[in-house]
Amino acid sequence: MTQTLLILAGTSEATALARAVAERGMVGTVSFAGRVERPLRQPLPQRVGGFGEAEGLARYLAEAGITHVIDATHPFAVQMSRNAVEACAMADVPLLALTRPEWQPVPGDRWQRVPDIAGAVAALDRPRMTVMLAVGRMHLAEFAPNPQHRYLLRLVDPPSHPLPFPEAEVIVDRGPFDEAADRALMERYGVDLVVSKNAGGTGAYAKIAAARALDLPVLMIDRPPQPERREAHDVAEVLGWLAHSGTDLGV
Ligand SMILES: NC(=O)c1ccc[n+]([C@@H]2O[C@H](COP(=O)([O-])OP(=O)(O)OC[C@H]3O[C@@H](n4cnc5c(N)ncnc54)[C@H](OP(=O)(O)O)[C@@H]3O)[C@@H](O)[C@H]2O)c1
Repeated sequence: MTQTLLILAGTSEATALARAVAERGMVGTVSFAGRVERPLRQPLPQRVGGFGEAEGLARYLAEAGITHVIDATHPFAVQMSRNAVEACAMADVPLLALTRPEWQPVPGDRWQRVPDIAGAVAALDRPRMTVMLAVGRMHLAEFAPNPQHRYLLRLVDPPSHPLPFPEAEVIVDRGPFDEAADRALMERYGVDLVVSKNAGGTGAYAKIAAARALDLPVLMIDRPPQPERREAHDVAEVLGWLAHSGTDLGV
């Protein structure tokens, strides 16, 4: 049977997987939520926008004849990942998550770990600092309780709403980023503290390495819990799973 893949995307790992799948002449669609104005062009057909929760995704899987789903979404995109588990169970389609290990502190890191965005907001209830807030534009409003800080924001697209704090510098740029450039950026803006999600992977790590080099503290937001599912950690492992998927379908 010809495999027809659905890749749930929004990460550089998903883009790498799409490239590998296309190079092998395999059939698949790459799906984006539509959060960024110009998603990176993919070497496979792409679709944009939600499916309508787990039921909508299950319907899509059946209608599009999807034989395998690879969830390569960001570790903080937990709603999509829950929907994928539920929908694949409903539609009886095998699911694999392409995940990356979380970052671990190394000597020289000055991390304060917080359990979630609310924890980061609470930890910022302190006297004025210059804060590099690298949490994506969806979460900016949650930081409104701490307008005393000067914020440095790096966003893929310009903010779509007025910012919830009076003093902010916005840099529109998309990763992957480079440690030396991030160090220079932090020095230029006089950053005192970095707020980051524990995204894992290499593309967003530059700011963490730069903070270490500059002896700056980092508020590190822990990942939300993900549902139980089968996981792979690199593209080769996903391709291996697909190659053996006639016999290897369990979680
Ligand atoms: N959260 C982050 O920090 C972060 C960082 C970098 C990239 N991203 C990427 O941005 C996207 C959205 O992240 P999020 O945290 O807002 O997700 P989320 O909270 O888990 O998802 C919210 C809803 O957005 C839709 N959705 C999410 N990802 C989708 C995809 N790849 N294709 C189609 N629909 C999708 C689904 O809508 P329906 O229920 O209607 O299907 C989902 O229920 C993800 O693709 C993720 O990989 C997220």
